[in-house]
Amino acid sequence: MQATPIRRDLDFGIDRIDRKLAGRWHPRGVPVAHFYNAMSLFFPEGERFFIHSVRHFRERVADPELKAAITAFIGQEAMHGREHDHYNQLIREAGLPAEALERYTAALLGWLKDHLGPSTQLSITLALEHFTAMLAHLLLAEPTLLDGAEPKLKALWRWHAVEETEHKAVAFDVYQAAFGRGAAAYALRTSLFVVVMPLFLAHVLAYQAQLMKADEQRPRGVRQWLEFGRFLGGKRGLLTQMIKPGLAYFRPGFHPWDDDNRELLGAVEELAAAYAKPAAPIRRVA
Ligand SMILES: [Fe+2]
Ligand SMILES: [Fe+2]
Repeated sequence: MQATPIRRDLDFGIDRIDRKLAGRWHPRGVPVAHFYNAMSLFFPEGERFFIHSVRHFRERVADPELKAAITAFIGQEAMHGREHDHYNQLIREAGLPAEALERYTAALLGWLKDHLGPSTQLSITLALEHFTAMLAHLLLAEPTLLDGAEPKLKALWRWHAVEETEHKAVAFDVYQAAFGRGAAAYALRTSLFVVVMPLFLAHVLAYQAQLMKADEQRPRGVRQWLEFGRFLGGKRGLLTQMIKPGLAYFRPGFHPWDDDNRELLGAVEELAAAYAKPAAPIRRVA
């Protein structure tokens, strides 16, 4: 294991952000802000789905180090869910249709839990954990993706990115412990990746469209949409930079730590110092 996942209970003060900023917190425009917001609407339910799918296989893991990593993974994902709940409340209170979109996410993931077997559910988690690991790497390494953004939301995305990097191999290692490294295991994880990635991105873009439609302050011209196009598909764009690491997932011997990006984890020290929860006041006994 290259990095030990650590559960950190931080408070970003998202509830103190002016609600008017829900669609304007990103300097590259409203469509970019709502693209991030759309991903956030997936997270609380998505993280619960990840926890559920990994927990199912916990008993099959013998390695005590991996067992401890699973516990930390669950703790981290639960914290991410909680902070993204605060973030999503900001979107709701701005009068945007976050509640309906979250309800739809819950129904969709509930359906997957009820109708798919545990190995398929874990493979979906693997695919989405690879997506979040690629996203996390870029959020920490590519300044143009968050520079100039509202500081509390920027910090929340960066903290989430650090912890996604720390635990990027946990679900993968559980999968290998349960299913090995043979052809069947390879076929299952890669075929699910091919199905899940376009579906996930299509959902994020559809959510973004709903948020844009409901946002009365949305831009009327095309300038911000062109910027959004650059944000996703430009030379330093989010999706452009995901092509290479995305294809790496198809290597038969792939492992998330083939890309050793531990140097990016240092960002957490500053975040933990700035957003640590204040200690509870000591109660004096009379
Ligand atoms: Fe997470
Ligand atoms: Fe994760």
